[in-house]
Amino acid sequence: MVGIGHTRWATHGPPSDVNSHPHVDCTGRVAVAHNGIIENWREIKDRLIKEGHKFVSDTDTEVIPHLIEEFKKQGMQPYEAFKSAVKELKGAYALVALDMDEPSKVFFARHTSPLVIGLGDGVNFLASDIPAFLKYTRKVVVVRDDEVGYITSSEVVMERGKRVGENSIEWMSVDLHPRVRVVEWTPEMAMKEGFPHFMLKEIHEQPRALSSTLAGVREIVRDVAKELRGASRVIVVGAGTSYHASYIGALMLSNLGGLPAQALISSEMRWYARSVSEGDVVIAVSQSGETIDTLLAARAAKGKGAKVVALSNVVDSAIPREADLAIYTRAGPEIGVAATKTFTTQVLTFALLSVEVGRLRGVLSEAEASNHAKVLGKVPEIASHIISVFEARAKTVAKTMAEKEHAFYLGRGFGLPVSMEGALKLKEVAYVHAEAYPAGESKHGPIALVEEGFPVVFTALSLDESELIKSNVEEMRARYAWTLAVAPKNAYELLRNVDVAFPMPELPSTASAVLYVLPYQLIAYYTAVAKGYDPDKPRNLAKTVTVV
Ligand code: F6R
Repeated sequence: MVGIGHTRWATHGPPSDVNSHPHVDCTGRVAVAHNGIIENWREIKDRLIKEGHKFVSDTDTEVIPHLIEEFKKQGMQPYEAFKSAVKELKGAYALVALDMDEPSKVFFARHTSPLVIGLGDGVNFLASDIPAFLKYTRKVVVVRDDEVGYITSSEVVMERGKRVGENSIEWMSVDLHPRVRVVEWTPEMAMKEGFPHFMLKEIHEQPRALSSTLAGVREIVRDVAKELRGASRVIVVGAGTSYHASYIGALMLSNLGGLPAQALISSEMRWYARSVSEGDVVIAVSQSGETIDTLLAARAAKGKGAKVVALSNVVDSAIPREADLAIYTRAGPEIGVAATKTFTTQVLTFALLSVEVGRLRGVLSEAEASNHAKVLGKVPEIASHIISVFEARAKTVAKTMAEKEHAFYLGRGFGLPVSMEGALKLKEVAYVHAEAYPAGESKHGPIALVEEGFPVVFTALSLDESELIKSNVEEMRARYAWTLAVAPKNAYELLRNVDVAFPMPELPSTASAVLYVLPYQLIAYYTAVAKGYDPDKPRNLAKTVTVV
């Protein structure tokens, strides 16, 4: 039995039945599902329409089965027709095709968008991501750019395309054996294990994920720290949650490591790329390792002579493969669309890295560095404590939050990126319009929105940050806002002055930057549940974003 399917994110044409994959040719014998964007679809479609093809959808994908049909009309066998169609495509694609004239095969091709093969016992799989088939096999081959082939239940054939001239590709057979990898992830990791949602399971899994990461990254962190030690500049790039981890990473590298470091949103990198040069190090942060914006940012930096370090959770994914050095967090597969455990493990990695860089550069004394390292070693245990102490309070907060339309998350210093992550979580799973702002900026505009009951959530990671935030709390209270704070438990005055307090363990910023987000993950999760939404599948979002 063979089959193909696709959960569509909708780049061309609205989400509707007619635009859903698979798309078929005029004969109904060829079907295609595709992730990515075909850039030259318009010209192909116009040409095929002139040749008599009838299209029914608004998608770019629909041109592919029609192209295959066209090559078959010229007398080609299905696989040759598929390869000839692929040759014409420009853009990003991971695609699979069925042809009823060779019904035991699923054809595949990849350019830029992720595609992996799962090798089972009497069954083979193709998917965008490993968890899709983890229940059936842990034997994996990652398909690389410009590879094509087909699978049957017992066979995998793969070829590599080499462009010769403008419009011609030579196909060379690929030996799969050295590429087969057995992933450490277990099938249980891709199951809910009694939790109602993956997001909640993954929040609770953080102690384990942090502990595995601590054990797993030690050596490579030392190598990367040596690379960073003499860097003239460090740019940390990432998207979404990974950008928030990048922001914290840049703050840590500059504060503890004494390096000139800045964070950039991956899709904004192109406007800075001109200033990148040899001597710079770019750290590309992406849990999936496949986010196209981050991949392109890394490529742009490499093209300018910078060293690229990848920080990812998926071994062999595109960004680590293209980087000079790769650090892998050990969070296990993350299924919930909202990133939780991959974020805290990324931040932990940055903490370890910054402490090592600080030590190497003499910014931190041996005693300071070993104190940071000692506390970081306890992070998994403290995470477990925080989750168990604050889960019920987060649930209570969620009942009120579920009735709100807007919220501010305010912080200073390290508290700002943690606020940004808190706001993003609430926005994406509970659809509350949550905005993060530097607390000091709130009086320069945003405060105009605040009225009675408006939620304002403050984050302070240290007593210093708490002191600076006190006046901002007063400003919001004076306008009858509903105030909440996540701050160290000895920030008595701040915590006493808010409606809901989360008194957190007092920790060095390296550890609190990992841990203070935990109440926000729980608030977002329980708010989504209180509103009747499925936090694992937020509308309009995809786990891995492979379109620019
Ligand atoms: C938020 C979220 C997204 C991702 C972003 C980058 O919860 O999941 O914002 O963080 O799409 O993804 P990666 O880390 O795979 O590059």
